[in-house]
Amino acid sequence: MASSFVAQRATSRDRESLDKLAAKCLDAHGGLPQLLDPDFAVALFPHESLIVIRDATQQVVAALALTHDSDDSAFFSLLALPTVNSDVASEIFSAAATLSQRPTQIFRCESVNPRLSQIFPDPASQFFSEYVMSRPTENAASPTFSVITQPWTDDSAPRFFTAYHESFRERPGFPDPSSAQWIADQVESEEFHREASLVALDDQRTPLGFVLVDDDQIWQMGVVPTARRQGLGRALLTHAVHALGTLGKPDAWLNVNLNNPDAIALYESAGFEIVGQRSRFRREI
Ligand SMILES: CC(C)(COP(=O)(O)OP(=O)(O)OC[C@H]1O[C@@H](n2cnc3c(N)ncnc32)[C@H](O)[C@@H]1OP(=O)(O)O)[C@@H](O)C(=O)NCCC(=O)NCCS
Repeated sequence: MASSFVAQRATSRDRESLDKLAAKCLDAHGGLPQLLDPDFAVALFPHESLIVIRDATQQVVAALALTHDSDDSAFFSLLALPTVNSDVASEIFSAAATLSQRPTQIFRCESVNPRLSQIFPDPASQFFSEYVMSRPTENAASPTFSVITQPWTDDSAPRFFTAYHESFRERPGFPDPSSAQWIADQVESEEFHREASLVALDDQRTPLGFVLVDDDQIWQMGVVPTARRQGLGRALLTHAVHALGTLGKPDAWLNVNLNNPDAIALYESAGFEIVGQRSRFRREI
């Protein structure tokens, strides 16, 4: 029997359909709230390569776009309603093949629902997964530190890098960037809040931990192994939530890898709740 779903190149009117699809996906299963930001949505789903999949009533049930090709991999953005089934999946995969013939396909999904995960049956295909967590900034406690802290400046930036490097070096997939590259990546963002970002130091000015605040997010935080379980992570987090409230942000957001139970425990104990999941899936053709 022929599928009742049809994949079509997007027309100019389909940007609106994409916005509606993103809103429905976020409403049903949460995910990255930036999906509703028009600039973010255009970067994630470039119009030239956008394909929409409609059901028999013309409703857009999924959208796919090629973001870039590398030597052997094609990178796609994918959104699909929580009703996604095997017919929609086969339209998604044949649409992907029309956009790129690279043997490895990587699908970036910023709003994951259980049925979307099922269209990638091999558990190893889900190679990256983060919870999206948030909490209101209202009634945020005031931070107290028993160590020295400094905000981000050109002078303190290398100390932030040391704190990052020592905190993350044992995490799986640690990218091990150079100090210059890492610092450049942070200051590149127009939404980076230098004053609200802190590095914690001991009496000898050795970095113990750090937190970076960007837009309405706790972008990155870490505590070096020798300083853990002494309350520094909680103090840095409390500071960041309070700072976001002072900046007028109603909610504090963060993303945390599903394989990081220590950090999830910290965030939950500080009032953050899981509001969605974002993942990358790999598929070989
Ligand atoms: C996650 C991390 C920042 C926690 O820092 P920390 O200074 O040890 O945290 P705290 O001492 O303030 O702990 C606060 C609470 O978090 C929870 N927690 C922290 N580490 C935990 C662990 N290993 N196991 C269980 N709960 C833990 C506990 O509820 C703890 O409260 P408690 O000590 O009263 O039980 C630190 O482990 C770290 O840097 N990890 C590597 C980098 C990283 O994963 N960063 C976050 C990426 S999103």
